[in-house]
Order: sequence, then C-alpha cells, then structure tokens
Amino acid sequence: MLKLGVNIDHVATLREARYRGQRQGEPSPVDAAIAAEAAGAHSITAHLREDRRHILDADIAALRKAVSVRFNFEMANTAEMVRIALRTKPEIVCLVPEKREEVTTEGGLDVAGQLPALKRTCKKMAKADIEVSLFINPDAKQVDAAARSGAQFIELHTGQFAEHFGNARARQRELNRLIAATAHAHSLGLRVNAGHGINYENLATLHAVPHLEELNIGHCIISHAVSVGLPRAVKEMLRLMKGYRG
Ligand code: PXP
Repeated sequence: MLKLGVNIDHVATLREARYRGQRQGEPSPVDAAIAAEAAGAHSITAHLREDRRHILDADIAALRKAVSVRFNFEMANTAEMVRIALRTKPEIVCLVPEKREEVTTEGGLDVAGQLPALKRTCKKMAKADIEVSLFINPDAKQVDAAARSGAQFIELHTGQFAEHFGNARARQRELNRLIAATAHAHSLGLRVNAGHGINYENLATLHAVPHLEELNIGHCIISHAVSVGLPRAVKEMLRLMKGYRG
C-alpha cells in the first residue's frame, strides 16, 4: 500500500505571517498534525529550517509528543540539526539541501559530493535508532551514492515532474527518470519515497512509478484544506492513492 506523509510546514507559514516572533498564535501545526493523522495520514513531516521561517523548535518538540504515527523530521545536514534530531528522536529524518533564498526545497541533495559527511550523520542516526532518508533528484549517480551512505531510504524529488506536468513530452521524460531511479534504487536495496509538487491532478500519473512506499505532500493539501477542511483534503488524497500497484 502506498502511504501518505502529510507535510504541515505551511500551517506554520500561515501562523508566522501574522505572529512572527511572538511564540503564539493560530493556526496550530500540532492541531493540523492530529487532524491529518485522524483522517488517515501515515506519517507527519515537518521541516525545521535553519532560518526558522515556518516551523519553530517548540513545534518540533510539541509534534514529537502529539504525533503517534511516524514523525519525519526534515532537516539540513548541519551539526545543530543533527543535535536537535538526536534529542527529538523522530522515527526518520529526511536530509535536504537548504538555501536561505529559496522559497521551498528546490533541488535534491548532492549525496555524491558530500558522502563522508552524510555517512557520519547516518551512523549517528543508526545508533539512535532513527532511520534516514535522502532527498535526491532522480539521477543514477545520486542513487548510487545514497546506496553507499548508510541511509535506508531515498525520497525522490518530483519537482521537475510536477513543473512539466502540463507538457506531455516533458512530463513523460520526467516520469521515465523517476521510473528508472526507483528501479535502480530498489535493485540496490534502498526503500523509495517521493515528494515535492505532488497534487490532486498529477498524482494518478505517479502510479506508473514502481516500488514507492510513501508520498510526502504538503502545499496542495494545506491549500485545499482552506476550502474543504483538513480531514477532507487528506481523505481525498488518500482516495487518489488507492489502487497503487507498486
Ligand atoms: N518532500 C520534501 C523533502 C520537501 O522539502 C517538501 C517541501 O517542503 C515536500 C516533500 C512537500 O512538497 P509540497 O509542499 O510541494 O507538497
């Protein structure tokens, strides 16, 4: 069964738009996580960015207590974030590249270019019983490096697929890249998640990608929730994921 991880960062984005620096205010990422979980989400993801632009340290601690499905802590591979992860003990960390000026996580991690540092983090997480996922572009070189890093999972960046969804040829090219990368990763023993830019329209096309375990989806679910409420937004996504054959 294909699982759904709900990313609740943008609940905090909305709060911070009004209450930045006040350590209070609505909407609550914890309430959103509880509602998503009750609606059937299989995991909750939150990204503590170095600039704390949406999720704050206090949210991470509160989410860890409130979430009873798997908690996926998304983070840059920095000493500070590693410390916070080891203290928080999520079920899994997803390591992502981070640039201050980007609107959201724009590209995949260059695993091949920073393998020793990633290996050290994977070792520390393994000791603490925390799984590791590496957010990478669907690229054989990065998959090969991920297989040597000690991470159990990769999360394939579906941003290019989502961006080119409106153009049939480009969409097929990006879909083929995702299919090739998942097949390659699976053959190397990696477990495969995917995320970024997945929405109610493009999800059905991703059923063609084999070996996927979980999709991490944030922006479109939180956006749709403004109109229909979070429980229904989550349930509609889960319905679209049904029938995935793997
Ligand atoms: N996965 C990762 C690693 C991400 O960085 C993001 C964006 O925060 C997502 C999934 C979710 O992307 P979106 O908000 O476009 O659904």
